[in-house]
Amino acid sequence: MAGKTVLITGATSGIGAHTARTLLDRGHRVAVTGRDEGRLKAFLDQAGHADRLLGLVADAADWQATESAVARTVERFGALDAAVANAGFMSGGSIGAGDPTSWAPMVLTNVLGPALLAHATLPHLEAGGGRLVLIGSVAGLKNSPANLYSSTKWATTGLAENLRLHATTRGVGVTLVNPGMIDTPFWEGVGAPPFALSPQPIAEAVCFALDQPTGVDLNTLTIRPVGQPA
Ligand SMILES: NC(=O)c1ccc[n+]([C@@H]2O[C@H](COP(=O)([O-])OP(=O)(O)OC[C@H]3O[C@@H](n4cnc5c(N)ncnc54)[C@H](OP(=O)(O)O)[C@@H]3O)[C@@H](O)[C@H]2O)c1
Repeated sequence: MAGKTVLITGATSGIGAHTARTLLDRGHRVAVTGRDEGRLKAFLDQAGHADRLLGLVADAADWQATESAVARTVERFGALDAAVANAGFMSGGSIGAGDPTSWAPMVLTNVLGPALLAHATLPHLEAGGGRLVLIGSVAGLKNSPANLYSSTKWATTGLAENLRLHATTRGVGVTLVNPGMIDTPFWEGVGAPPFALSPQPIAEAVCFALDQPTGVDLNTLTIRPVGQPA
C-alpha cells in the first residue's frame, strides 16, 4: 500500500499504538484516538512523524466524537483509505461475581464503537475502495463462563460479517482480526499470561489486510500465541 490514510481508534497504547507506529514507519498517514489526553500526548511525543500523524481525543463509544474524529482526519489528510476499530477493553469481572456498574462503558466501547466508526467512515471508504478492520478476539470465537467481555467480542464477530455483506456491494473490504492473548496494558491488574505475544504480529496482520490488492477482500485473521490453551 502506498501512502494511505488510516484512522485507528484507541491507538495510544498496545495493539493500536504498535499498528500506528508500523504504518508511520512505512510512510503512511495515521490518525489515532484515545480518551485520555495525557496518554495521547505521550504517544504523539514518542511516535514522531508529526507531518503524517494526527492525534484526537475521542471516545469511541460517543457518536459526536467519532463523527468529529473522522471529519478532522479527512480535513487534515484529504481522504480516508482505511479505518481500524481497535478501541476496546475488558472490565467488571464475570457476570456471576463482577461489578455490574462498570459493564456499560465496556459494552458501549466494544460493541457500539465499531458500529459508530463504520457509520462515520463508510461514505469516505466507498469513495476510494477502502477497508474497514475490526479488532475482535479469540474470545469472540469461543465461550467461557459468564464472560460479558467475550460476549462483546462475539458481537464484533457478527458485526464484521454483517458489515461485510453491506460494504462489499459498495466496493469496501471488511477484515476481522482476532488476537489471542497479547501482552499489553489490557491485562493491567490481572497480568498477561507468560506465553502472551507482543502486539507486533497483530500490527503486521492489520498491515497485511490493508496491503491486499484491489478486488481482494481478506475477511478473517486469527493470531494466537503458541501455547495458548483455548
Ligand atoms: N491484549 C489482548 O490480549 C487482546 C486480545 C484480544 C483482543 N484484544 C483487543 O484488542 C484491542 C486493543 O487492546 P489492547 O490489548 O491494545 O489494549 P490497551 O493496551 O489497553 O489499549 C487500549 C487502547 O484503547 C483506548 N480506549 C479504550 N477505550 C476507548 C474508548 N472508549 N474510546 C477511545 N479509545 C479507547 C485506550 O486509551 P484510553 O483508555 O486513554 O482511551 C488505549 O489506547 C481491544 O479491542 C481488545 O479487546 C486484546
